[in-house]
Amino acid sequence: MKIGSISENRKFENRVAITPETLKKYNSLGLQVNLSKDYALHLGIKDSEYESLGAKLFKDDEEVILNSNAIVQMSILSDENLNKLKKDQILIGVLNSHINEKKLRDITLKNVNCFSLELLPRITRAQSMDILSSQANLAGYKAVVDSFSYFRKAIPMMMTAAGTISAAKVLVVGAGVAGLQAIATAKRMGAIVFATDVRQASKEQVESLGGKFLSVEGSENLETEGGYAKETSEDFKKKQVELLKETLKKIDIVICTALIPGKKAPIIITKDMIEVMQNGSVIYDLAASQGGNSELTKVNEIVDNNGVKIMGESNILNKLPLSASNLYAKNIFNFVNNLFNKEKNTFNINLEDEIINKTMVK
Ligand code: NAI
Repeated sequence: MKIGSISENRKFENRVAITPETLKKYNSLGLQVNLSKDYALHLGIKDSEYESLGAKLFKDDEEVILNSNAIVQMSILSDENLNKLKKDQILIGVLNSHINEKKLRDITLKNVNCFSLELLPRITRAQSMDILSSQANLAGYKAVVDSFSYFRKAIPMMMTAAGTISAAKVLVVGAGVAGLQAIATAKRMGAIVFATDVRQASKEQVESLGGKFLSVEGSENLETEGGYAKETSEDFKKKQVELLKETLKKIDIVICTALIPGKKAPIIITKDMIEVMQNGSVIYDLAASQGGNSELTKVNEIVDNNGVKIMGESNILNKLPLSASNLYAKNIFNFVNNLFNKEKNTFNINLEDEIINKTMVK
């Protein structure tokens, strides 16, 4: 059996789905790996490195697709390449099945089996395949590093003969996977960190990392059974605005990570709030591509509102493509390993397996 991957559209995506490390793992499962020419050259990985580990390199994407039983990618293929997929072939990646519903329906009707990894259930057995966690963790770290580089003051408290510099104050909005890593990173660099979330469970996690949790007074726990956030009521929003408006007057850097699955990101930092912030403050909005947590966020732009910089990066992981690819490729391998039956040398689409069932586009 053969597994293939073609170059992503580099205008938008620098990550790759197969690294030399995971190539060896595919080989040990008995899977031949097919890749397109210059597959990861932009990451400093030459074709010859993949070839020396047994991969077959093809000049055209089409040849990779035609010669592989399964295709693993970061994002969905172009329309042209999707049309090349045939009956019983498998496509695995972050296919954004909600956004690409029609395209995916068309190819599943041709009996192509598609697995969209953002649908992965968050159960213990799926942790090693959890692309949302592995990528969000890196995003939380990088958002802090990037925002600190735009901030014009030092981050840690420094006591020098010339005087004392006070520590920067950071607010993390949304304490999920990205938010918790942002808190840990900002703490390690010496900032004073505050965080807020609608899920009560996150309070303990924030505090265990040394952050100060800001609770909206008298609010109920807005957590679904699956551990995600629910949408907030008007009353909650009002109380959250009051709490944050006061807090933001003394905050230097805000890292926004708040999301609600399948919905537009909630607007939490309003224009009014930004207006009370100090000149030189930075807002880094990781929710930008889902609409943003700040009212003034513009995707892939740095907006300056009276000296407050609002940064809306759409794919921050393109700035850490090697680390992100290393983790993503391992997530993908672990998913394939669960799908592939080594003894029978075949892909086994067992719909009784919750991981396979929930990720399969039907
Ligand atoms: P996410 O990316 O969907 O959202 C980020 C954070 O924003 C969440 O903590 C959410 O509660 C918060 N949020 C949403 N609306 C908000 C608002 N209006 N104000 C303030 N905060 C708001 O969440 P993520 O990072 O994917 O994590 C969701 C849950 O899944 C967490 O409980 C996490 O611990 C859990 N999880 C479980 C795993 C498992 O294998 N069991 C693996 C990874 C995460």
